[in-house]
Amino acid sequence: MAESLHIPETADRATRYRLLQQQLPSLMDPQAGSVANLANAMALLHQALGFHWIGVYLVREVDGKQELVLGPFQGPVACTRIGFGKGVCGTAWQQQQTIVVPDVEEFPGHIACSSLSRSEIVIPLQVNQVVVGVLDIDSVRPNDFSDIDRDALIIIGKILEEQL
Ligand code: SME
Repeated sequence: MAESLHIPETADRATRYRLLQQQLPSLMDPQAGSVANLANAMALLHQALGFHWIGVYLVREVDGKQELVLGPFQGPVACTRIGFGKGVCGTAWQQQQTIVVPDVEEFPGHIACSSLSRSEIVIPLQVNQVVVGVLDIDSVRPNDFSDIDRDALIIIGKILEEQL
């Protein structure tokens, strides 16, 4: 098992993603279940990328309706439930597509779990073409997510989907 990533201080983000994509699969323990594996995955992503908040929300049935419920994450405490079509996460769920928000204040209905967040990316996680959760990353820097992040995080999302 990979204990932790070894990343040179000076490594750029593309290098960090490359190392993550190489090492994340070996961190996944097939016997451990999704909570353990997603928890370790969030720790590794946070260690490698250092964003303000990195976590997953998972589709769960609450009071007879489906909602996104907070799953393993790294960062400050966050809101526990997000409705279908609500916020960036619920919108990515509804639209079944990755959403990059360069400025969270410009996104109608953005849910501010932390006042420090300035930009955000949400990647839907799908099993058999059904969204079963989302990977959500918040940055304290405006416009912090480029196509490099988007493309790399979609690949990381596919590794996470194998745990769901
Ligand atoms: N900003 C998200 C809510 C989750 S937190 O960022 C952790 C949203 O608008 O859906």
